[in-house]
Amino acid sequence: MKKLFVDLGKNSYDIIFERGLLSHVGDYIKLDGKKLLVMTDDNVAGIYADAVVSSLEKAGYEASLLVLPHGEKTKSFDILPAVYARLLKERITRKDALVALGGGVIGDLCGFVAATYLRGIPFVQIPTSLLAQVDSSIGGKVAVDLPEGKNLVGAFWQPKLVLVDPDALNTLSDAFFTDGMAEVIKYGCIKDKKLFDLLDACGGKSGLMPVIDEVIYRCCDIKREVVEKDEKDKGERMLLNFGHTYGHALEKYYNFEKLSHGMAVSVGMYEICRLAEEKGLTEKGTAETVARVCSAYGLPHTDDAPCRKVVEGVANDKKNLGDKLVTVLLKKIGESYLYPTDAEFFA
Ligand code: GLY
Repeated sequence: MKKLFVDLGKNSYDIIFERGLLSHVGDYIKLDGKKLLVMTDDNVAGIYADAVVSSLEKAGYEASLLVLPHGEKTKSFDILPAVYARLLKERITRKDALVALGGGVIGDLCGFVAATYLRGIPFVQIPTSLLAQVDSSIGGKVAVDLPEGKNLVGAFWQPKLVLVDPDALNTLSDAFFTDGMAEVIKYGCIKDKKLFDLLDACGGKSGLMPVIDEVIYRCCDIKREVVEKDEKDKGERMLLNFGHTYGHALEKYYNFEKLSHGMAVSVGMYEICRLAEEKGLTEKGTAETVARVCSAYGLPHTDDAPCRKVVEGVANDKKNLGDKLVTVLLKKIGESYLYPTDAEFFA
């Protein structure tokens, strides 16, 4: 077992890493309340829900299960009344807690419900996808989508505990693994050349799997450090959006149907490096290096969408609702900085 402590004052919590942890989560969850509602999706439920619920019962909790359809549509604002109704039916009180068992969609939705139900109740994150393990389960950004865009209604609501079982990746499809790799590569790009070089040297998923525990731990440690410095996303934390400005616009351009989040971020990382290199803001050769590592993990770095059309969406990104657009550039691999600009930068 390995552990990280996210130091956020009264909102601090542990991240625990252990292979096989999903079979005995009850050993780690120490909460005052008696009732736990486990929220999951219909893909994850069949694999892990029984083990998680029975481990929680063995630990003395009254555990119930809410299984939702898999996929981004589940994170919509419209689903909330039905979810709150279920919590009320289970007589979940402020002393009780929710458990998010699944990927980013379940983690974000469950966290948002925890943040808002009865003005806020505790929740635990048990991320089962690579993206959720290295990124979305940590740092307390929780949200649901509106028809106008993703994550437009949300909160900062930290979990009480994050439980990471790298064995969960064995049941993850290659497509979802690839999706999560964009965030892993992002961490190397913005903060850790050694991590980036390791990803490069592994040359792809099969080379990476023997060291995946170490890689997940390192990504979480980077995120821990960034979130501790800037919990509310006003400065340093924005570095985690490297590749995301263009990436989000591209996802939206295709109505979230053609490219996964990871694929769009991968294109975004390459594009921003290419453009910044042209303007002398990033070390020459960086874009090609990013492209090489992304493609080793099955991620695209280019797309046919007309840049100008995509860029129109940049202006509507929720991070850019004001006049100013702050984008993330690399000085070189492993070193990032915030760069105030406008949508024209991408044209
Ligand atoms: N996923 C970006 C953040 O947590 O700030």
